[in-house]
Amino acid sequence: MRKLILFFLISFFALRMAIADEGMWLPLFLNQYNIEDMQKKGFKLTAEDIYSVNKASMKDAVPIFGRGCTSVLVSEEGLLLTNHHCGYGQIQQHSSVENDYLTNGFWAMNKEQELPNPGLSVTFLVRMEEITEQLMENITPNMSETERNAIIKQKSNELMQKAVEGTHYSAKIKPFFLGNRYFLFVEEVFTDVRLVGAPPSAIGKFGGDTDNWMWPRHTGDFSVFRIYASKDNKPAAYSQNNVPYKPKKHLKISMKGVKEGDFTMVLGYPGTTQEYLPSMAVDLIEKIYNPHKIALRQKRIDIMTFEMDKNVAVRIQYAAKHAGASNAWKKWIGESRGLKRLNAVEKKKNLEAEFQKWAESTPELKAKYGTILEEYQKNYSELSKYQHVSNYIFEGIFSIEAISIARRIDVLTEFNENSTNEEISVQQKKLKEWSDDFFKDYYQLIDKQTFSSLIEMYSKNVDKKYQTATFEIIQNKYKGDFGKFTETVFEKSFLVSKTKFDQFVNQFSYKSVKKLKSDPIWQLFYEIKDLYLTQLDEKITNLQSEISILDRKYMQALMEMQPNKIFYPDANFTLRVSYGKVADYMPKNGVKYLPFTTIDGIIEKDNPEIYDYKVPEKLKQLYENKEYGKYGQNGEMNVCFAASNHTTGGNSGSPVIDAEGNLLGLNFDRNWEGTMSDIMYDPTQCRNITLDIRYALFIIDKFAGASHLINEMELVN
Ligand code: ARG
Ligand code: ASP
Repeated sequence: MRKLILFFLISFFALRMAIADEGMWLPLFLNQYNIEDMQKKGFKLTAEDIYSVNKASMKDAVPIFGRGCTSVLVSEEGLLLTNHHCGYGQIQQHSSVENDYLTNGFWAMNKEQELPNPGLSVTFLVRMEEITEQLMENITPNMSETERNAIIKQKSNELMQKAVEGTHYSAKIKPFFLGNRYFLFVEEVFTDVRLVGAPPSAIGKFGGDTDNWMWPRHTGDFSVFRIYASKDNKPAAYSQNNVPYKPKKHLKISMKGVKEGDFTMVLGYPGTTQEYLPSMAVDLIEKIYNPHKIALRQKRIDIMTFEMDKNVAVRIQYAAKHAGASNAWKKWIGESRGLKRLNAVEKKKNLEAEFQKWAESTPELKAKYGTILEEYQKNYSELSKYQHVSNYIFEGIFSIEAISIARRIDVLTEFNENSTNEEISVQQKKLKEWSDDFFKDYYQLIDKQTFSSLIEMYSKNVDKKYQTATFEIIQNKYKGDFGKFTETVFEKSFLVSKTKFDQFVNQFSYKSVKKLKSDPIWQLFYEIKDLYLTQLDEKITNLQSEISILDRKYMQALMEMQPNKIFYPDANFTLRVSYGKVADYMPKNGVKYLPFTTIDGIIEKDNPEIYDYKVPEKLKQLYENKEYGKYGQNGEMNVCFAASNHTTGGNSGSPVIDAEGNLLGLNFDRNWEGTMSDIMYDPTQCRNITLDIRYALFIIDKFAGASHLINEMELVN
């Protein structure tokens, strides 16, 4: 008997403690749920070392970078590291033909040379607090959703105001566990953030879109910034009088490197995950939504690639568009494959069968949860009809550049005989600026082919009911010849040439609205926009709000059904801790990938003929002379490593931290086999990809000769 009790105790305990590498945990609850497990896996510090409001902690060294990345402070003088792909916009902004920092890299050799970046900010978490109880105070179970939302909104505003009263901080509130709990965040935002350094793209983006989302990886994906503050160390708008920010906390840098199995932790801002979706939603993503979106994007990318390969100028014009388009395209492919391989739908169905049994086990449960799955089914199958069309509109029609021009110039249709010259000239000025910026990177031949191909795909794959007047014209007048129709339209339209566009804008008066409205490209834009607003928007919004009520209930029910399971909330771009270990994996039968790459792999990939694989001469020299300095180990220069930390988009630039709290590297990507982790995590396949910090320091020191930056940092062995 005693043995039996002991057995139950142990298995209960094991259940509570066996947290897999999966999970993006709330810093506030580490003591409650994770710290024991983390320490068992090797972590040597405490939860308060990661997050504390009473003393400086790691969270004070890890701000949000810009709008979608993470970064980490590495010196007492506000020196900040993030990814090259996170600083890409800033690096590009400062680049010109004479000073092409994207191609050649950029290094400020002293603080005077550091470059300001209007619009860029970094955001620190000052504190967070659960406020579910306060928000739910006046909520009753039978309240309508509208009433519920109104009360939550009002109370939220009160709480946010109170939280930052008399300070320069800002506050936000976010729902967690699909609306079951709420947290308030107090933040401090710095806006004087200067570019300090960036390697050439041949290092920072080495492997380009070919290697993107892939392991083994050799990308030196980092860039260096510095936060500036007022003399009293507070946030301040850019000024020459600002001084380097003195952080409460910065990370020391580990020169030890990692071994397989070593504990690693990622602290950062994961953007979005959907781990608690029901099976029908996963099925739709895997088999319908992703495949159609992939096909549409593939078309667009193929057309770009073909023209970019023919013409260097076009390659530069479309570099960012191509990278942007191909990033999500490749992720979707990996995600659908991963879900299939993991049998994700089947696994969800099994859970749902168990759930249904439980939900019918007592009359009370049945009344509360008995129909959730049935309602999910109904709503999702209804939604999918509209969502499919919506995907074709946004991923198809609206991704055509010509349509985006129409979308931009559409503001002019609002003018009439009562409009003043002043109002008009404000818009004219804005459009002129927009046109200079837009047409600089516009190549009509790409757009024309894309237009023709994508509207043809729309017509083939979308129900007749949603084919607007333009599609009838193509069928009747052009006998279904999309190419011929496109030729005519591009000939006739004044939107797809800068000269004609500018001329129209310059000479615009309210009387020209008629001309705009007779432009065939504007017409197609308008038809589709009108179609969306009149036939889809409301239906989609309503169904999605029905579904979000179900999400909330289902989440609550799952937690009730599995009281011993420790749940983590979906990512929502708030600070999280993921932890795991350096780990290899088997991408397919008979193949095993080591968790490390070295500079030898860069040399192996070197190919002057292929843009993505041109290794800079200087790097080859350093390699040949084995000039790795203190950054190498046993004659090797490590570049990247793979580990089992659960991460997603937004985690780019996140510090990857060792058991002692020192910086091992910068997270920048995941492996292709593991991109389904946003929907279902597989510990055997999902890996985050980290740039080994020693490679970044080697590039800063030996390649760029910016050793003054290294001197600011604290390297530990
Ligand atoms: N896959 C990385 C993340 O999702 C982005 C890498 C950017 N590089 C590129 N070649 N597109 O955002
Ligand atoms: N590359 C992603 C980012 O930019 C990270 C990821 O999705 O793993 O945040």
